[in-house]
Amino acid sequence: MSEVLLRAEGVGKRFGGFTALQAVDLELRAGERLGLIGPNGSGKSTFVNCISGDFAAHDGRVTLGGQALNGLKPHRRARLGLARTFQLPQPFASLSVLENVRVPVLFASQPGSATARAMQCLEQVEMAGKADCLPKELTQVELRRLELARAIALDPKLLIADEAMAGLSNAEVDQILALLFRLNAAGTAIIMIEHIMRAVTAFAERLVVFVAGRKIADGAPREVLALREVEDAYLGRQ
Ligand SMILES: Nc1ncnc2c1ncn2[C@@H]1O[C@H](COP(=O)(O)OP(=O)(O)O)[C@@H](O)[C@H]1O
Ligand SMILES: [Mg+2]
Repeated sequence: MSEVLLRAEGVGKRFGGFTALQAVDLELRAGERLGLIGPNGSGKSTFVNCISGDFAAHDGRVTLGGQALNGLKPHRRARLGLARTFQLPQPFASLSVLENVRVPVLFASQPGSATARAMQCLEQVEMAGKADCLPKELTQVELRRLELARAIALDPKLLIADEAMAGLSNAEVDQILALLFRLNAAGTAIIMIEHIMRAVTAFAERLVVFVAGRKIADGAPREVLALREVEDAYLGRQ
């Protein structure tokens, strides 16, 4: 079994008096494929934001490769190998597709030509043909691919894909799935947050379920999906 890559212990986050996340523990091994599911508003994106540093958690401790992340800004965490995509793609609107990918390549200061490396990332997501387009010229699935290329450009140890398939057709979902499988096969651990059950069960080796800001299940997908509490959460009987 490979070593622990990400360890979150007791992570909690409040917005004013509202507790969005409470005492969440999560471990992820290097190269693992984890599915994170839960009803809308259960705290999935809040958890990602606490891991990525976009939000400061109120409680808990997070380590990546044994290094404490607490207090580090998102760009510092990115340099340590943590990349995330946003539920709503956030490209630089005035930059071309290629330039959008050159930014994280330059940030990660990888050796060689930044343009060549950015093109390589675009090829990985089958977007090389769109290199000179502006984000506003892209379709929904192309925007998702660009978002993934920008994450891949960081050469991450861990990628967190927050609803990277929302709003896509079945065929497009399969394309993004294939892309994430390829990335994982090259060694990147992936946390997939997804409502499309067929995608998440095809992808995940392990499933974690959040309900109302708490982790209620963590284990083999088949066993987790058979739990009464999980079924109740999805049928709104919580
Ligand atoms: N920036 C914020 N300010 C206030 N409340 C927030 C903020 N972000 C999320 N929340 C609240 O926290 C809860 C969890 O949200 P979120 O993590 O986005 O859920 P999920 O991603 O599982 O749908 C929701 O009730 C949401 O309204
Ligand atoms: Mg969300």
